Amino acid sequence: MELEELYRDIILDHNRTPRNKRQLDDADIANHQKNPVCGDEINIQIVLDGDQIDVAFFFGQGCSISQASASILTDVLKGKTLDQARAIAAGFHELMNGSEPNNIDDLGDLVALQGVAHYPVRIKCAVLACDTLDEGVIDWLNKHQI
Ligand code: FES
Repeated sequence: MELEELYRDIILDHNRTPRNKRQLDDADIANHQKNPVCGDEINIQIVLDGDQIDVAFFFGQGCSISQASASILTDVLKGKTLDQARAIAAGFHELMNGSEPNNIDDLGDLVALQGVAHYPVRIKCAVLACDTLDEGVIDWLNKHQI
């Protein structure tokens, strides 16, 4: 199977069967953002175990790229520290800018979205979940003065 085909299948699979798509009543970190271009929204919720992410969930509506990206991201985040989560968000931005981040191995299946970098109008769709995560983590770190 060609790599492009594999990546397409990963995106389709996460879009058809989203992982971790549910809304929690009580999360340690919760944040939402709207894509200003289309108005679609993503909510990211995180339950912590010490300084590690125990589980991450998402909900919201959007295009297949935004939904697949959120589904993959919430899978990738499990067991990561908040610093690692921020590094993953930053690395994904690098990938969307057409570069290969140093931490590409930590991005897991998020690399399946690298083809989106060729379609600038869709990049915000792909990074929406990462941006929502990053803002939520920064808020949490600021509140807890870590
Ligand atoms: Fe709205 Fe992609 S078109 S998030």
